[in-house]
Amino acid sequence: MLNKDFHTVLKKEVFQTLARCVDSLSLESYLVGGVVRDHLLDKEKAKDIDIITVGSGIELAKTVQKELPGAQAVQVFKSYGTAMVQWRDLSLEFVSARKESYSRDSRNPQVTMGSLEDDQNRRDFTINALAVSLNAKDKGTLLDPFNGLEDLQNGIIRTPLEPGVTYSDDPLRMFRAIRFAAQLNFKIEDKSLKAIRGNAHRIAIMSKERIVEELHKIMLTPEPSHGFLMLEQNGLLERILPELIQLKGIEEIEGQRHKDNFYHTLEVVDNICKDTQDLWLRWAALLHDIGKAPTKKFNSKIGWTFHGHEFVGSKMVYKLFKRLKMPLNEKMKYVQKLVIMSSRPIIIAEEIVTDAAVRRLVFDAGEILEDLITLCEADITTKNPARFKRYHNNFKLVREKIKEVEERDRVRNFQPPVTGEMIMNHFNLRPCKEIGLIKEAIKEAILEGEIPNEYEAAFALMIKKGIDIGLEAHGK
Ligand code: CTP
Repeated sequence: MLNKDFHTVLKKEVFQTLARCVDSLSLESYLVGGVVRDHLLDKEKAKDIDIITVGSGIELAKTVQKELPGAQAVQVFKSYGTAMVQWRDLSLEFVSARKESYSRDSRNPQVTMGSLEDDQNRRDFTINALAVSLNAKDKGTLLDPFNGLEDLQNGIIRTPLEPGVTYSDDPLRMFRAIRFAAQLNFKIEDKSLKAIRGNAHRIAIMSKERIVEELHKIMLTPEPSHGFLMLEQNGLLERILPELIQLKGIEEIEGQRHKDNFYHTLEVVDNICKDTQDLWLRWAALLHDIGKAPTKKFNSKIGWTFHGHEFVGSKMVYKLFKRLKMPLNEKMKYVQKLVIMSSRPIIIAEEIVTDAAVRRLVFDAGEILEDLITLCEADITTKNPARFKRYHNNFKLVREKIKEVEERDRVRNFQPPVTGEMIMNHFNLRPCKEIGLIKEAIKEAILEGEIPNEYEAAFALMIKKGIDIGLEAHGK
């Protein structure tokens, strides 16, 4: 891993090399986009360095590649007239200054060569259109035709052109606007917000993968609720995550109200972000209550219920991941498992905790146990200070109890002390359902605390259970 200082040194070397090559080739070139923005914000985040050249950038890429020791071979993308050089952890992207025009049903522009100004015009936001000259005559000069620097200082997201044109040209920019506002804690100017609302339907032409990429970035901000609220208020969320919109609203029947599960969910997400950087745990927080909308019922005796919402929610996770082309792999299963178990520790925290209940939780949760408790703690959003304290204290007790039970009973990643093979040998059996019955009885007895998680006790129970169901020992 490169530390920040070393990274800065590397960048400096790149900039010097670039300026030298630009000079020797007599090209007109500029740094542009994220690298300039992040530098001005005093963030050394950008690993992508975008260089625009008036004319072809491919020759510049080839020259720079030779000058940077150990740089990988130049990758040329002929149809776009762009080239890429990877050096250490930096990606240098060389593009030709261009004019672009978009067609209404595709995000892919038709590209023609243009001037620096044309290129800046077609960029998404004023803060991303800032360019720094690499040319000998004015090296280091900031070229800022749209007052992007002022917007950076004032924390404003604004488009260089009429926002309706910018967003309609490339609807992904609606997500980018909200994502940048969320990441940088900036405000999107009103005109832009209006244009986003007017163009929200255009997300139909966007690839799901790109939308999800932006959602991930919003999810990784310190308080994702800001980004999600902007998505909701501007008509995007209902088009990508309608399940969350369904959670909105408070209903009252016979004087009984339930909480607004949409705002509750966003609070849970913000809470969990204080405790974890893990993207998927954050997703689980966002989705943990989605089953509540389809399971909501009112009963005059017990009030509002959401029976089985955890199970229904976990099924919805699959559909949602599939629809958004998110990975249907162990990440999805992890989120599903957290959703399906999301109420289990709460029940334990509310009741007098028995060892057996804790053992069952540890056994069922396995690897996700800590994350599950973290989720449940984040789920405490009560505004009643006494209750807030009591719930948190209860979870502290649950954590202590888990530690105690874990040290003693080792039920996480449970491996039965008596295996199926031992049962078959002892009773001279071929594979049959009786083996499963005995194994289940042993597991249950351990989880209930009737026997310790040890070989002798489990073996004795195996014999007893075998006799109970009419088996005879093999004589070994
Ligand atoms: N850009 C644009 N419209 C888009 C995507 C990108 O105008 N839909 C322009 C912006 O000028 C942007 C530059 O291309 O600064 C580089 O894009 P990208 O690398 O995707 O974003 P960065 O701004 O570098 O920021 P981040 O890495 O955080 O996405």
